Amino acid sequence: MSEPYRRKEIIGDCTLYLGDCLSVMASLPDNSVELLWTDPPYGHSNHDGDFNARLNEHRGIESKPIANDSMDEMRTVVDAMLSDAVRLLNEDCCCCCCCCCGGGGPKPTFAWVANRMDSGGLQFFHSVIWDKLNPGLGWRYRRQHEMVMIAHRKGGTLRWQDDAKAVRNIYSQMPPRNRVHPNEKPLEMVGHFINLHSYPGDTVLDPFMGSGTTGLAAAQLGRKFIGIEIDETHFETALRRIREFSHGDFFASAQPAKPSQEALI
Ligand SMILES: C[S@@+](CC[C@H](N)C(=O)[O-])C[C@H]1O[C@@H](n2cnc3c(N)ncnc32)[C@H](O)[C@@H]1O
Repeated sequence: MSEPYRRKEIIGDCTLYLGDCLSVMASLPDNSVELLWTDPPYGHSNHDGDFNARLNEHRGIESKPIANDSMDEMRTVVDAMLSDAVRLLNEDCCCCCCCCCGGGGPKPTFAWVANRMDSGGLQFFHSVIWDKLNPGLGWRYRRQHEMVMIAHRKGGTLRWQDDAKAVRNIYSQMPPRNRVHPNEKPLEMVGHFINLHSYPGDTVLDPFMGSGTTGLAAAQLGRKFIGIEIDETHFETALRRIREFSHGDFFASAQPAKPSQEALI
């Protein structure tokens, strides 16, 4: 029988798969994940000759369309991913899914994701705003935030590492300056959610890992990591970054993936 991935690399407690997340997830055992943190395609067909593409070219980042980034493709792959997430997530464990704030039409993306997360075995819990501190593209309105939608298994509770602290539902952090992936998320922000919703030793899964930011944050915080990426270039980037971390030289120059004090009350 053929493998459900094109390549598999193990670096310490991190396992990286090159392949389609739906095939790889189907091969993982039930209840084997304590936190699913992911940043899927947003369904914008971004980087397809648009302004973003030209901006990235200017910054020296290779500009090519993101896989599954049309609205229909995104909804199909995210829907299937969330279906399998229910089987993989341990009881009371958490699923965090980034999404954009707009999307237009009768079902804007954030509303679609919240609705979808509230069905088929998951229970939507809350939306958290990622405030990027500076306005981005757009005119009415210029985009300054994205959202992280939080859910847990239906009927369960939300894993929360430290109940003594209240945490705001706005997280403020500039996007990374020198991006190695066009949609790269800030390491500190990913670490903030991993810290809140998992314990050291837990397994974190990112089915759309891109450049491996979630893997870096998970490794830094002492979690195990499973990452899946369909695009070979991004897979290689993730592999390089996580290898550099495991060799001890990555975080010499990077910000730590700790929750910012600003986000805690
Ligand atoms: C928004 S990006 C993630 C960026 C990541 N958070 C980072 O910091 O680098 C989404 C990624 O999902 C990948 N992708 C799209 N469809 C996929 C699929 N079916 N399986 C695995 N990866 C997929 C894309 O190639 C892209 O790199």
